[in-house]
Amino acid sequence: MKKNKYWFMLIVLLLTAALLLTACQPAAEEPAAEEPAVEEPAEEAGPNEMEIFSWWTAGGEAEGLNAMFEVFSAQYPDVEIVNATVAGGAGTNAKAVLATRLQGGDPPDSFQVHAGLEVEKYEPSTYLEPIEDMFDFSVFPADLLQLLEYEGHVWSMPVNIHRSNVLWTNTKLFEEYGLDVPMTEEEFYAVSDAFTAEGVIPVTMGTKDGWEAAHVFEGVLSATLGADGYRGLWTGETPWTDPGVTDALEYFNAIMGYVNEDHSALTWDGAGEYFLEDKAAMMIMGDWTAGWFASKEYGEYGWSATPGSNGIFVGLSDSFSLPKGAPNADNAKAWLGVAHSKEGQEAFNPKKGSICARTDCDNDAFKVVPETYGYLTSAAEDWASDAIVPSVVHGAASYESWATDFKDTISLFVASGDVAGTQDALQGLCVDAGVCN
Ligand code: GAL
Repeated sequence: MKKNKYWFMLIVLLLTAALLLTACQPAAEEPAAEEPAVEEPAEEAGPNEMEIFSWWTAGGEAEGLNAMFEVFSAQYPDVEIVNATVAGGAGTNAKAVLATRLQGGDPPDSFQVHAGLEVEKYEPSTYLEPIEDMFDFSVFPADLLQLLEYEGHVWSMPVNIHRSNVLWTNTKLFEEYGLDVPMTEEEFYAVSDAFTAEGVIPVTMGTKDGWEAAHVFEGVLSATLGADGYRGLWTGETPWTDPGVTDALEYFNAIMGYVNEDHSALTWDGAGEYFLEDKAAMMIMGDWTAGWFASKEYGEYGWSATPGSNGIFVGLSDSFSLPKGAPNADNAKAWLGVAHSKEGQEAFNPKKGSICARTDCDNDAFKVVPETYGYLTSAAEDWASDAIVPSVVHGAASYESWATDFKDTISLFVASGDVAGTQDALQGLCVDAGVCN
């Protein structure tokens, strides 16, 4: 009996199991149900942004950048641009902030850097992506490409060419007092004395941010040493003990005797106000000044080279990089594409006061900004015919560490006027940089 009961229970169990199994089987003709997807925690899709880091906050600089943003936005309307600026001409404040961000693993999507040895400051092999595969090399001048190459790669996309050694002249005041634009050091003294006698500030300058005096001085060095002599300062071929450096320090000292007394309280553009108000007759500053004039709708200016440096073009170029780990790398690459393009450069440069880095921009495209058109037309001609030498204050000629020491030394010279001591110090900097013996 017991045995029968056992068999009966076993059969019931087997039948139940068979039924259950059948119930679990999909009907033969029904398509197999898909495995339910394992629910992964949805990755927060961040906003579609692009952070561009620069120090372009002054008039002309900001307008130029915005014009290139507009070209970008027309092509990539879904990308929100984050305009990350740190004010301070020549990147005085921005460069330090940027280095900290890179070292802290917090890079922007792209940042402004000068073409030339300045890039060494950002340790390119650690923090930057090489971008040579984004270039059409045929549309950039060979000199510029050479400047962009560092450790066998190109690390940034150039958007412009600026000139550092420009003398801006207030046409109204020159006409009013019947004076000619000075082309030489001697003429500069004569004109400056004449303006002083009329109660006009001969030269307006701001030295507040610590780079402006060195900026003027590099133009003066090119004037007293000539193009080859000047170039040699950064390669060790011209010793800083050269009499041409003594002449430059004396010439610069004399210039400082003609500037506004409140120079140490003013930035480069702040100093420009004296010019706009017809209180100052001249200003020595890079050609972003033309962009700044345009932002003030001011066009009554003339220009020439820093007196004595005719035929020499102290050049520099702004460019944009691609940091490693850029949070929105695809957008950053699209930005570099716009920076590379003719359309992007033709929108940016007339407002910025620079000529295109590309060689195929249309001069007519520059007519949109009448206040810079005349100047930029002549700057393009000078770029084509002058001797081109690299700016040190704007990243082209030396490592940033030497450029910084150079700026600091000239700032001290503004206060001390000590020609011999400063010349010794400058020679010492060259030795420290490992360039002079
Ligand atoms: C330079 C830069 C220019 C302009 C200038 C003043 O270093 O190359 O584009 O911005 O500083 O800020």
